[in-house]
Amino acid sequence: MRILYSGIIPDGRNGKNIMQEKYHIITYGCQMNVHESEKIAGILRGLGYEETSEKEDADIIVFNTCCIRENAENHAFGNIGALKKLKKQKPNLLIAVGGCMTQEKGKTDVLKKKFPFIDIMFGTLNLEELGNLILRKKAQKKKVIEIREKEGEIVEFTDAYRTSYPNAWVNIMYGCNNFCSYCIVPYVRGRERSRKPENIIEEVRGLIAEGYKEITLLGQNVNSYGSDGTTGMTFAQLLDAVASIEGDFRLRFMTSHPKDFNEDVVLVMKKHRKICRLVHLPVQSGSNAVLKAMNRRYTREKYLDEIKMLKKHLPEAEVTTDIIVGFPGETEEDYLQTEALVKEVDFASAFTFVYSKRQGTKAADMEGHIPEEIQKDRIMRLVELVNSLTRKKSEKYLGKTVEILCEDYDAKKGLYMGRDEFGRMGYFASATDVIGQLVQIKITKANGISLFGEIV
Ligand code: 5AD
Ligand code: SF4
Repeated sequence: MRILYSGIIPDGRNGKNIMQEKYHIITYGCQMNVHESEKIAGILRGLGYEETSEKEDADIIVFNTCCIRENAENHAFGNIGALKKLKKQKPNLLIAVGGCMTQEKGKTDVLKKKFPFIDIMFGTLNLEELGNLILRKKAQKKKVIEIREKEGEIVEFTDAYRTSYPNAWVNIMYGCNNFCSYCIVPYVRGRERSRKPENIIEEVRGLIAEGYKEITLLGQNVNSYGSDGTTGMTFAQLLDAVASIEGDFRLRFMTSHPKDFNEDVVLVMKKHRKICRLVHLPVQSGSNAVLKAMNRRYTREKYLDEIKMLKKHLPEAEVTTDIIVGFPGETEEDYLQTEALVKEVDFASAFTFVYSKRQGTKAADMEGHIPEEIQKDRIMRLVELVNSLTRKKSEKYLGKTVEILCEDYDAKKGLYMGRDEFGRMGYFASATDVIGQLVQIKITKANGISLFGEIV
């Protein structure tokens, strides 16, 4: 185990908050980032900080940024900029910026210039050092900027402060080797590296013992787990081992890449009822020409064959996806092929994005960038199509009884909420607190993507 902090550590773990200071974390982006914010929270609590939901009450504000699309960056820029006044009023307030944006080439210089009041910058590749960086900043006037250029060996992290009970996220690997031509992730998260199976299994065992009811295995491309030869296990074998852990829990995994998704994984899903019958399989486009330009390394036909294979073994299985419209060179014909594929697969849901040019990626230098009006027109049509399919699926739930893992109480609605194994959100009334329990709900109303029902 590596030691994460040096210097004197205030004892925040046994209730004595020596520092009496508070933290506030602002997270952008994907599930990976949400989980990394739980790790950041773990570091801050280890230093003795307590959480506050109000920025104004915080002694340290940490931005965990995302750079996958331009609008994610713009949000972060806007919110960091908005802190200028607060920092003036509270000069001792520490502002730390980390995540994918600081890891982008040249971005720390931009941030330094635009927001000279930032105290600490760290990257995705040295997140575990944040505790030390804070202690360093407290001991000096100068700002602390520490970005690692290349990924190091995996630091096993035991102190994430989880906020999503009964769900728990577990990294199985970090980084990405795929270099899809539009994507900045491989540049800001480094090359693929897999955690050791024994560490993953130990973490999941611990979570189950603590009462977590849903475990999601996380990686940019989980199907290539262990392909660097360092784990002695494929993803299918790891999934089998995790699903074999005793206890009552649901198991999910994401993200699968269609170039690597395979029958072995589906057979493991079939073997264990604990594994949710839902696969997140981003297709990105229905056109072979666009898929090639995106460097996705599969065809529309291969993708459809994988769906067929999945449904052959698990007819009840559902698929969700990610789609990008307006990629450079995408013609109306290409776009219509995406629409046709969406109808053919009948996705449970789809995350739809307008292509966003990312400096340093291959696609940024391609010819044929699509005018914004055309991009907007395509995304509107696609969203309409996806919504209509989702609505139709929701209606099929009417009158049926589904098993929902209760996650939270929605005070506004006065109802408990949770998800079925396909990720569909369901609301219901209950006289007792059922958070963390699996409940049977008879669906009485379907409202777009949300379901409403009664406990049976
Ligand atoms: N522009 C738009 N969407 C993108 N994604 C990744 N990079 C870009 C980009 N440059 C989408 C992909 C991916 C999801 C996480 O984000 O669909 O699957
Ligand atoms: Fe980006 Fe492709 Fe890697 Fe996913 S697989 S993170 S889209 S490069």
